[in-house]
Amino acid sequence: ELPPRVRIHEVGARDGLQNEKATVPTEVKAEFIRRLAAAGLTTIEATSFVHPKWVPQLADAEALFPQISGIEGVDLPVLVPNERGLDRALELGARRIAVFGSATETFSQKNLNRSVAESLTMFEPVIARAKAGKVHVRGYLSMCFGDPWEGAVPVHQVVGVAKALLDLGCDELSLGDTIGVATPGHVQALLAALNEAGVPTDALGVHFHDTYGQALSNTLAALQHGVTTVDASAGGLGGCPYAKSATGNLATEDLVWMLDGLGIETGVDLAELTATSVWLAEQLGRPSPSRTVRALSHQ
Ligand code: HMG
Ligand code: MG
Repeated sequence: ELPPRVRIHEVGARDGLQNEKATVPTEVKAEFIRRLAAAGLTTIEATSFVHPKWVPQLADAEALFPQISGIEGVDLPVLVPNERGLDRALELGARRIAVFGSATETFSQKNLNRSVAESLTMFEPVIARAKAGKVHVRGYLSMCFGDPWEGAVPVHQVVGVAKALLDLGCDELSLGDTIGVATPGHVQALLAALNEAGVPTDALGVHFHDTYGQALSNTLAALQHGVTTVDASAGGLGGCPYAKSATGNLATEDLVWMLDGLGIETGVDLAELTATSVWLAEQLGRPSPSRTVRALSHQ
């Protein structure tokens, strides 16, 4: 049985733009986020308060956030790896943050310069301070299915780090297929193992990258399991600069096309969203990789 409604967690402005070679002007990012909101998206991940040398594409977080923080009816989560990042986000009035851990040691080192255990120690005060200030905390967990350096990732290893992040106080957990290698059976096996370990499905979201064209199939498998939070990126923008072979996220338009067809509510206007992705593609100077954007536009 499928859920009547899905909450789309839009990551294009963060996961998408962090991976663009070109630096997108702050005003274009702000306009992109305003247009995503106008298209009906209500959770729009805005940027990251990480080290500017690690992700130069998002180094303008301080300039961007005040330009969008007044948009009505929209949650604007931001990525925060450590207390320095939290200070920067709170200073600007952020009400939702996301920490980001890894199920594998290699990616943890490459993305955070820390072992998995050290990263959890780094997150602990971040989550505690956020919760004390009634700031919502999402936990990302990367490499939940496969890792470019370590290969297939055992389900029990993912469950261990997932539980640790939830035990630290994360309000929700997003299961990341960072390099897009998951297939539907693997998705259902991981969700079942998490449930068996005491993690309720309603604390879980899914975050698929579309490297092997499996993102929609994986999403449907997750919906059948009861998941109702799905991450996607407008136009299929995205990747991760610290994971080789990561390509774009599941395109929000492809997701909305499927959910509309299934009669599952999202609140998103597909025509308006597509127009936004076509506009952004013009700014970036290359067409959107989303099949739905291509089918619905003349780009
Ligand atoms: P580090 O070099 O170990 O940092 O990097 P450090 O703690 O040793 O500090 C070194 C210097 O950096 C200090 O300055 C700090 O103040 C400064 P100094 O005293 O030397 O002048 N610093 C900062 N400055 C600004 N903002 C900060 C900050 N933190 C320290 N927040 C660090 C550790 C975590 C900072 C670094 O590894 C980092 O920024 N990593 C971010 C990587 C990233 O953003 N990756 C992409 C997001 S994850 C992703 O895309 C996956 C996801 O989509 C899910 C999926 O698909 O799986 C979420
Ligand atoms: Mg990602």
